[in-house]
Amino acid sequence: MPSSPFFVLLGLFLGVAATSGSESACSNFTLVDIPNVNLTATTYFAANALVNISNAYSSIDESNLPAFCRVELVITTNATAGSSALTEVWLPDDWNGRVLTVGNGGLAGGVTVTELGHVAVPQGFAGVSTNTGHDGGTDDGAWAGPHNDNAIVDWGHRAVHLSVLAGKEVVKQYYQTPANKSYYLGCSTGDLKEVQDFPEDFDGVVVGAPANWWTHLQAWSIHMNLNTEPSTSPHFMTEDMWQNILAPEVMRQCDEYDGLADGIINDPRTCSFRPETLTCRPGQDATTCLTADQISALHRIYADYYEADQTYVFGGYYPGGEKRYYSGLVGKTQFKIGRAYFQFMVTNDTTWKIHDYNATLLALTDKLDPGQANAINPNITAFIGPEHNGKLIQYFGWADELISPGNAIHYYETVHQFLRANTHLNINDVYRLFSVPGMNHCGPLLTTRQGGQAANAFGSVEQASNNSPPLSLDAEHNILAAIVRWVEEGVAPDTLTGVYYHDNDVANGVGFTRPLCRYPYNLRYLGGDPDSAESFECAFNQA
Ligand SMILES: *[C@@H]1O[C@H](CO)[C@@H](O)[C@H](O)[C@H]1NC(C)=O
Ligand SMILES: *[C@@H]1O[C@H](CO)[C@@H](O)[C@H](O)[C@H]1NC(C)=O
Ligand SMILES: *[C@@H]1O[C@H](CO)[C@@H](O)[C@H](O)[C@H]1NC(C)=O
Ligand SMILES: *[C@@H]1O[C@H](CO)[C@@H](O)[C@H](O)[C@H]1NC(C)=O
Ligand SMILES: *[C@@H]1O[C@H](CO)[C@@H](O)[C@H](O)[C@H]1NC(C)=O
Ligand SMILES: *[C@@H]1O[C@H](CO)[C@@H](O)[C@H](O)[C@H]1NC(C)=O
Ligand SMILES: *[C@@H]1O[C@H](CO)[C@@H](O)[C@H](O)[C@H]1NC(C)=O
Ligand SMILES: *[C@@H]1O[C@H](CO)[C@@H](O)[C@H](O)[C@H]1NC(C)=O
Repeated sequence: MPSSPFFVLLGLFLGVAATSGSESACSNFTLVDIPNVNLTATTYFAANALVNISNAYSSIDESNLPAFCRVELVITTNATAGSSALTEVWLPDDWNGRVLTVGNGGLAGGVTVTELGHVAVPQGFAGVSTNTGHDGGTDDGAWAGPHNDNAIVDWGHRAVHLSVLAGKEVVKQYYQTPANKSYYLGCSTGDLKEVQDFPEDFDGVVVGAPANWWTHLQAWSIHMNLNTEPSTSPHFMTEDMWQNILAPEVMRQCDEYDGLADGIINDPRTCSFRPETLTCRPGQDATTCLTADQISALHRIYADYYEADQTYVFGGYYPGGEKRYYSGLVGKTQFKIGRAYFQFMVTNDTTWKIHDYNATLLALTDKLDPGQANAINPNITAFIGPEHNGKLIQYFGWADELISPGNAIHYYETVHQFLRANTHLNINDVYRLFSVPGMNHCGPLLTTRQGGQAANAFGSVEQASNNSPPLSLDAEHNILAAIVRWVEEGVAPDTLTGVYYHDNDVANGVGFTRPLCRYPYNLRYLGGDPDSAESFECAFNQA
């Protein structure tokens, strides 16, 4: 019997399958027939081998990873134009049967190797990431041309989609069985575009603070910057003023609404912050108060929190992140991304300056929608409906200095309204939005610089790679395990538990744990140890 052709074939198949996930399988791996996809290199990393890889956007230098095979691809994105994207697929020997695509940030061009290595491979996922079609840093836009239309489309959505397709095929050929499920995990360029336009790509998606409304976000960034700069104007506030005059007053007015004076505002909408209390009185020490010009600038900066702004729609800063807002407003990343966007993708004028901005430019930008990067369609039924059954988890920090919390709430609410008006779907069964009080943009990466405190470690990207791993890999503490459990076992996350490590570094030990609440619920202190998540509940606050 064993010599029958069937068993010989079976034996061959098993023999080959057994070698997948080994050094020779990796080195010998070749791609069979994926149109427009070329394999350029395979490299095997044994367990605990040094993985020291860097590109224009991302790097990793670790020697504690499990064994994996690194496959590098070039994907032709438009054969006529000759445009292409670089994509990598990291294939762990000890595979869990799933694919995980990790996202990018801003205008960046670079495979997100740091998250492939810190999140995907250690948890057994085959990881996929792309450079989005160009090489460059987060706020570098020169690659876009002007008029480098195919690169802009690749960045806007095409490279990720083609990489997911190629990545799934590489996984299938390498392990000789297709992946059971496909996931996405990202922060900042969180891929709602895939959810809306390529619903088959993923079964479960986790997006943090997604820049999904590019046209409005970039215009808003410039608008916010102009409320502050130039530094010679009477409304300008120094970083010292933000940190030492404004921040303490915000806490004085708003911190205790949630029952605990801990420097974290759990739901900023419960407090009507009034900056005018800081107006200098005659004879007052000028280092303890603000001028009328500065106060009116603050009214504009917080304007959309008081009342929805009809130009930008999704809202401005919320009280609570003042220690970080100076760097968001004046600084560096946000304003540089916005400027590059207008220079290279909208006006095609590399001499364009932010002082040339006025709101009429928003209409032009909306019309162009460079790279079709806007992802604001509320109709996500193809992804979450019964035919595909996808699940979506989104999160945001209430103290985000780059993307207003109002952006997350606005998108969630438009989907909510759409589902109510057009479907029988209950949003809670398909899409959940979690808030992280006190967290800045995507967590400790940015907060460390100014000592922000938030339970900002819960298993997403930019956390483990910034010394803030989740407290445990279970579905309560690890948002990736939560989406997997929701997709595969139908158990939706009610709350998550985030951890703050002292100075945002696990080496310093746990500072506190806190529940992350599902919108529209918010965190409320019940009493007891303020460092323990068990002392809090998620409750409904009338905003
Ligand atoms: C390919 O695999 C064979 C055994 O399966 C091995 O002997 C050979 O060294 C491998 N080639 C490379 C380049 O690793
Ligand atoms: C892919 O490989 C084919 C065949 O070797 C080659 O003609 C083509 O130029 C390659 N494409 C890219 C983008 O490198
Ligand atoms: C990783 O590479 C960088 C740059 O090539 C080098 O400076 C660094 O020392 C390397 N790390 C290790 C552990 O070898
Ligand atoms: C591919 O590039 C060519 C040349 O730039 C352009 O005319 C065409 O519209 C592009 N195709 C797609 C699908 O983007
Ligand atoms: C894929 O799922 C099937 C069914 O649950 C399971 O038997 C199989 O082991 C999974 N594959 C992998 C590679 O984990
Ligand atoms: C900038 O160039 C793009 C094409 O690359 C074009 O669609 C757009 O209209 C141009 N913008 C202006 C203001 O002319
Ligand atoms: C707004 O900017 C455009 C150029 O982008 C300019 O043509 C227009 O005159 C400006 N409008 C106002 C009211 O300043
Ligand atoms: C929503 O999208 C689905 C599938 O993409 C489509 O069939 C349906 O008509 C859309 N619903 C509305 C109200 O536009």
